[in-house]
Amino acid sequence: MSQTNSAPPVLRAEAIGKTLGKQLLTPVLYDVSLQVEKAEFVALTGPSGSGKTTLLYLLGALDRPSQGEIWVNNQRTSQMKDPELTELRQKEIGFVFQFHFLLPEFNALENVIIPQLLAGKPRHLAEKRASDLLERVGLSHRLKHRPVELSGGEQQRVAIARALCNQPPLILADEPTGNLDTENTEQVFSLLHELNRTEDLAIVFVTHNLDLAARSHRTIQLRDGRVTSTGVAPADRPKTSA
Ligand SMILES: Nc1ncnc2c1ncn2[C@@H]1O[C@H](COP(=O)(O)OP(=O)(O)OP(=O)(O)O)[C@@H](O)[C@H]1O
Ligand SMILES: [Mg+2]
Repeated sequence: MSQTNSAPPVLRAEAIGKTLGKQLLTPVLYDVSLQVEKAEFVALTGPSGSGKTTLLYLLGALDRPSQGEIWVNNQRTSQMKDPELTELRQKEIGFVFQFHFLLPEFNALENVIIPQLLAGKPRHLAEKRASDLLERVGLSHRLKHRPVELSGGEQQRVAIARALCNQPPLILADEPTGNLDTENTEQVFSLLHELNRTEDLAIVFVTHNLDLAARSHRTIQLRDGRVTSTGVAPADRPKTSA
């Protein structure tokens, strides 16, 4: 892996906490600090209910922490108003969820074009990037298919193309292979791995699959809302390691 010690981390969380619920206040995350460098491929693991999805939502500025601070690509999010957060998400972060959340009434190409139009890109450029990305994920023969006309693995690959469409430096993926069979899991995981390597993309992916976690650069473990391990950070890794 390239050494990027001088560059600021793509993602930094400092002592964040989160309490969920209105009547029944439930503390879900406690004092979580972590950092993700440019082009890192990080697995986020932990038992069901340990707070992985909640954490990913906070890191992706889809929700606000109750305590602590988060920086995305060196931008501190706590002071930002909602429109600024929306812009930050559009530019800096691509999301891949367990359930793809593609727009059902639009075809694959349109699903990858629309977020670019929302970010202000001219239509012809958005179309070109969408078809390039869908080719990259092996779906150039399915551009006009709507989500219901695609397999689960194909839908997830469209979701990955959509996550990449505005060229973010960071992908946050919540169990991207959670609903897929072994073959599609391998295909989607290999695709994420390749994008990490070739595009210098930082990827944080939640998984219950320890084999996949073992193939990432490092694993951050959560248990009962606390980080129990952040793996070996790149700065502390021996220089000889790949
Ligand atoms: N709206 C809510 N109000 C109160 N508690 C909530 C709310 N949403 C989630 N929780 C609780 O927060 C905890 C963390 O949930 P979260 O979805 O982050 O877990 P997870 O690690 O992603 O689990 P899984 O592996 O099952 O997806 C759980 O114990 C859950 O019951
Ligand atoms: Mg979850």
